[in-house]
Parts: sequence; C-alpha cells; structure tokens
Amino acid sequence: MDSHNVAQAAHAAQAAQAVPPADKAQLYAQLATQLGELVADQTDFIANISNFAALLFTSLPQLNWAGFYLLHGTDLVLGPFQGKPACSLIASGEGVCGQAALKRAAVLVPDVRAFPGHIMCDELSRSEMVLPLIKDGRLVGVLDLDSPVLGRFDATDSEHIQRLLQQLMAATVVPESRLAPASAPAW
Ligand code: SME
Repeated sequence: MDSHNVAQAAHAAQAAQAVPPADKAQLYAQLATQLGELVADQTDFIANISNFAALLFTSLPQLNWAGFYLLHGTDLVLGPFQGKPACSLIASGEGVCGQAALKRAAVLVPDVRAFPGHIMCDELSRSEMVLPLIKDGRLVGVLDLDSPVLGRFDATDSEHIQRLLQQLMAATVVPESRLAPASAPAW
C-alpha cells in the first residue's frame, strides 16, 4: 500500500468510527423525532426542506455540505442548504446529483475523485451521497450530502435518510409547479 492508499485507508477507518452502527439507529431515531417536531405545525415546502437541511447538517457528524437541488424543467437548481456557496445549476444527468435525479435512486460516492463527471463545489469534499426527493411518486429534486472524509456514507445512512425524506414529504405540501410532470418518465 503506498502512502496515498494508507492515507485513504486511515480516512475510511475514521469514517467507520464516526458513528458506531448501534448508535446510528439511535441517532436516526432521534432525528425522526426532531423532524416530527419541526414539521408538526408547518406544511410549507421551503420552510420544511430548509429545516431538514439544517437538521442534518447540525446533527450528522463529518458533513461539510447538506442541501437540496430542485427540479426546474430538466435542470436542477440550488435550493435550501447549509455549507459553503455551491454551484447553482446542474443540467440533466450531470454530476452525482444529475445521476441520482435521472435514476430516481440513491447514489453513494465513496471517493468523489473516482466518480466520472463529479462536480466539485467545495474542494474539501471527499465523499458524497445523493438521494432523490419524491412526493407521491413524482420527482421534486435531490438531497445532496458531502463529507470531507472518504467513505463517509453507507447503505445504512442511505436507508435511514430516505425514510426521513419520506417523513418530510408526507408532512409537506409541495406546489404542483415543483413536481416533475407525471407524463415525463425520464424525470
Ligand atoms: N458534487 C455535486 C454538486 C453539488 S455540490 O457537491 C454541493 C455533483 O457532482 O452533482
């Protein structure tokens, strides 16, 4: 193993220790409770997704960016987020976000430098996870989480956060203009 790989392995080990699996379930259960409180008396789309980004950014360890890109036509436009200013427009299929939107599926990137077409908004980012935001079966946008640590996100994170997104969307009124056309299967 060369020094670069040793450094990568050290980062990965650090990531694995960030939240031990047993504590992860507890952490996400707490987040579900907090989210329930945040949306209890609020159904507004921007208010609720803004609080969601802030909740994740301030509660999950080892993040340097958390936020939404929202569907505008076939593009994704920057929405509520926490972290450094980011690129404001991502075209259909571009970057990790565009891929997740096209596939309507989670995309986990353990090493952003190894992902063809990755769009670097913060040079500190080393790993990334993007999840589709879906309301009543229609795409609204994506949630993007970035980490300065290699391999920060795993399938457990993805499953728990997708459940939180479902909880968020169930409690939120999404304007028709924000939803992908029901007749556009690509989105
Ligand atoms: N890395 C993303 C772009 C958004 S920033 O990370 C906030 C991508 O490749 O789509």
